Amino acid sequence: MIDPEKGFTSDVITDANRFVGRIDLVRSCMQALNSPNSLIAIYGKRGLGKSSLLRQVQQMALGDYTLASNAGLHHEIPDNPRKYLTVFYTCDSIIDSGEGLLSRLCNDQNDEDGLLRLVPHDGKEIVEFSRAKEVSAGADLKVVNWGAKGVETSTYARVVDGDTVQTFRNFVSSIVQHQVKGRMNRDGLLILLDEFDVVSNKNGIGSLIKSLSSKDIKFGVCGIGQDLTDLIEDHASVERLLEQGAIHVKTMPKPEARNVLTKAEELFEGELTIDNTVKTKIVSASQGYPYFIQMIGKSCVSKASQLGLNAINENVYNRVLEDIKSGVAFPTLESAYQRAIGNTENRQMLLHLLAEQPEENTLFHEDVGRIFLKNVRKDAEEFEVDYLDQNLPRLLDRKFGPILRRIPEGQGIYEFINPVFRLYVNLRRI
Ligand SMILES: Nc1ncnc2c1ncn2[C@@H]1O[C@H](COP(=O)(O)OP(=O)(O)OP(=O)(O)O)[C@@H](O)[C@H]1O
Ligand SMILES: [Mg+2]
Repeated sequence: MIDPEKGFTSDVITDANRFVGRIDLVRSCMQALNSPNSLIAIYGKRGLGKSSLLRQVQQMALGDYTLASNAGLHHEIPDNPRKYLTVFYTCDSIIDSGEGLLSRLCNDQNDEDGLLRLVPHDGKEIVEFSRAKEVSAGADLKVVNWGAKGVETSTYARVVDGDTVQTFRNFVSSIVQHQVKGRMNRDGLLILLDEFDVVSNKNGIGSLIKSLSSKDIKFGVCGIGQDLTDLIEDHASVERLLEQGAIHVKTMPKPEARNVLTKAEELFEGELTIDNTVKTKIVSASQGYPYFIQMIGKSCVSKASQLGLNAINENVYNRVLEDIKSGVAFPTLESAYQRAIGNTENRQMLLHLLAEQPEENTLFHEDVGRIFLKNVRKDAEEFEVDYLDQNLPRLLDRKFGPILRRIPEGQGIYEFINPVFRLYVNLRRI
């Protein structure tokens, strides 16, 4: 058996050697990291590789520029790149305000990524470690022992009861003094916040981040959104900080998508190859979404193993396609599909019509993926789908997905909330 995970993964990519393409984005991240004041904001649709890019930002912040030099940006790497200690936190929707977020940061006990790990404290034992495989790569700090008394208020940073913002400031300034400048001799502390879009009340969060940013403390936020306002509502307050740091992750161009497959072959170290014709088909089915390439890739590896082959040829790919068509290949997407159609042929037909609509650009956004209901109506008539107006609401309903969302910029314009689900519907048999 060949382990599919050796070449493909549906996880966030931390290892720079598995990260493919995105050269322009890597360049922008590098510039934002090296400018003293810039904030970093990574946004784009679901499943495009935002979190993976944020993890690469973290590597570069530690001084590991493997990715940038592999990407041919060697001559653009500053002679003395700014180095940071890093914090990485994934937000959730229970966080309901900027203050709630700071409170979470102050209490996070993650021993490799948490803020609390860096707050100096007598009993606590912290060691240097590298996030990359290479030994030469930049080091970060991790906790190996929280101390005999457990996690406790630090002797170096004062907790101010009832004042989260001040407590956070105290924590951060003691980190900067003792760990960043002191022990590790770095230029600053970098706080990376993933899934920032799910914070339920972002009122004033931009100005809060602005007030906390300084030449010693840089923030990077990342999340789903088609523009910055989805990420930071009061983005006007951070506009100047974002001159270099606004990073829009879009679909991968075809050659780059193909490189994900070539990279996988490389990672399999000769154990497995992928036929060129199959590469072309996977690239076309995945429409620039690396997540879909990784998922189809994994399925192909398993199928090849089952058949005792060490090449993913057309036969292997067609069998995987058959599994997708019949709904057995990707259980999570399939259950979303079943929930959306709910045993109704009409709704199933409508879903497929919507998914097949050519993606059109609208006036105000360069993002593709918009669906115009008037076009769907024409097709619906042709295919005799009745009750379009009765069937559509369920696809917008939270209880059943939701699958679509209305785009406020015009009447009758919709979008699939999860673009990967749209790709799935396109491959699924009616
Ligand atoms: N540069 C890349 N090279 C190869 N694979 C990638 C790259 N970026 C992302 N992927 C793959 O795409 C998938 C999605 O990546 P990631 O989780 O980073 O995306 P995301 O935009 O954060 O998704 P979400 O919106 O769900 O948070 C993963 O399977 C990951 O392995
Ligand atoms: Mg993500």
